[in-house]
Amino acid sequence: MRNIFLTGERPTGNLHIGHLFGTIKKRIKIQRKNKIFIIIADNQLNKNEKKKKKKNIIKLMMDYFSTGINIKKNCIFLQSKIKELLELSCFLSNFINVNTLKRNPIIKNNISDRNISCNEFFYPISQSSDILLFNANLIPVGKDQLPMLEITNKIVRNINIFFKKEIFRKCKALLSKNKKIIGIDGTKKMSKTQNNTIPINCKKEKLIKIIRKLKTDHKKKTIYSPGNYKNSVVFNYLKLFSKNEEYRLYKKDYKKGKLSDIKTKEILFLKIWRKIKIFRKRRKEIKKKQVKKILKINNKKARSISKKRISLIKKNTSFFF
Ligand code: TRP
Repeated sequence: MRNIFLTGERPTGNLHIGHLFGTIKKRIKIQRKNKIFIIIADNQLNKNEKKKKKKNIIKLMMDYFSTGINIKKNCIFLQSKIKELLELSCFLSNFINVNTLKRNPIIKNNISDRNISCNEFFYPISQSSDILLFNANLIPVGKDQLPMLEITNKIVRNINIFFKKEIFRKCKALLSKNKKIIGIDGTKKMSKTQNNTIPINCKKEKLIKIIRKLKTDHKKKTIYSPGNYKNSVVFNYLKLFSKNEEYRLYKKDYKKGKLSDIKTKEILFLKIWRKIKIFRKRRKEIKKKQVKKILKINNKKARSISKKRISLIKKNTSFFF
């Protein structure tokens, strides 16, 4: 059977460089030969996040475009516009029990963190529905999403066993090679909720400010004392933005005390700004109005695929519907 690629994002604000080296890079590679379904997962927003939903959806689309994601070729669409997803979620929820969900690392962490809503508890089922409605088998995501896919595959197994035939196929994550990218606070993973990101449409002045504040090796006594690059967040980012050979030289010089912290920051700034400048330029090539139109067309396409798929699923699982 042919491969179908699907992935998604919650529309919570601008993309940041953490996304860039993880999922975006991977998608750009995949889109060379394939079409990707990209779900803007607005059903997976909490009450407060919903307030800025409309704005953030357009922001996300503009960001996709500016990083080089082909927003016409790929099918980027809005989760809430596809009613069949809800119908399928309801069906899927019969095939996973509450305790399995509670034990899942993502849900478990969230529950211990805060008082989550039932909707949040339902995310893994909603996400399974996203994948299964489009019959997707290859899912480009970050490592943090693996437990979610595990639930999807558990649901698939339970359903296929129950109906004694293959109603759905299993899915597989396509992970990007880069490890998690640290935030500008130098401790937590870069994420919008932690407010520790470098947005991909960052203005020059803001980028300078951010880089100025980045932690360097705090144990260094003078500018030209030997430094330990492992203590420097700047080096974390330099690694991402430099060629291997270049990075090796920076490390070597830093260790010897030949490269000052200010200089590393200058180099980093130039490298990040060169990338961001391209994004900012590309962003000007499209208007919000066009983006909205494309989204509308895609919603329609996704809806038409969904209708066909749900009727097939219903046919195969007849007495359940
Ligand atoms: N939960 C994902 C995230 O927070 C977003 C998402 C929604 C998704 N539906 C999906 C990812 C389907 C992959 C496949 O990033």
